[in-house]
Amino acid sequence: MSSLIVSPSILASDFANLQKEVEMLNASDADWLHIDIMDGLFVPNISFGIPVCQAINTHAKKPLDVHLMIESPENYLEAFKEAGAWQISVHIEACKHLHRIIQQIKSLGCKAGVAINPHTPISQLSDIIADIDLVLIMSVNPGFGGQKFIENTFQKVRDTKELILRKNSQALIEIDGGVNLQNARLLKDAGADAIVAGNFVFSSANPTATIAELK
Ligand code: DX5
Ligand code: ZN
Repeated sequence: MSSLIVSPSILASDFANLQKEVEMLNASDADWLHIDIMDGLFVPNISFGIPVCQAINTHAKKPLDVHLMIESPENYLEAFKEAGAWQISVHIEACKHLHRIIQQIKSLGCKAGVAINPHTPISQLSDIIADIDLVLIMSVNPGFGGQKFIENTFQKVRDTKELILRKNSQALIEIDGGVNLQNARLLKDAGADAIVAGNFVFSSANPTATIAELK
């Protein structure tokens, strides 16, 4: 069985020492770097934007997994591509014309992901699942790191896996929010391919060792 893809979230890192944090991740077993972009509109918080993504990219040796928690993401796709995004996930709840936006992400040469909030049923992905590279299942309400994992996520992962197989989709399943060592194992058993980990990694005594344990 292949190991979990681990995507540590920069949101939980020390912003005053971003270069050092990215270099730590470069030297770790992390697969992707998760970049949380919040606009204060789609979610009730503001994180950081395009220039910070660009600065992370200057030092990163791993693919940037960009999670856009913003309204009208179609207006910023190109800018994030230029700032180094390898994969871009947009929220289904923020997209009026999701199919068009997915095509736009792909035409930029990026992997295309759809993020889905805890209240949104997986069935809403039915007609887009075959076109996307990633389903980013939110296991907390987006906007903040360090929240408690929502247990219904396990069923959601199983439902997503079932939909992917039924529709012959190549999409990977990534889980975001409140992930730790215990639920990571169960998530993998339920069908997850990738996990995001913010506070669990950066609040630990040894982030490098914690990433290795998650893998
Ligand atoms: C939540 C973000 C998450 C968050 C995860 O809105 O999308 O990526 O940073 O952080 P933890 O792992 O601390 O829940
Ligand atoms: Zn995220």
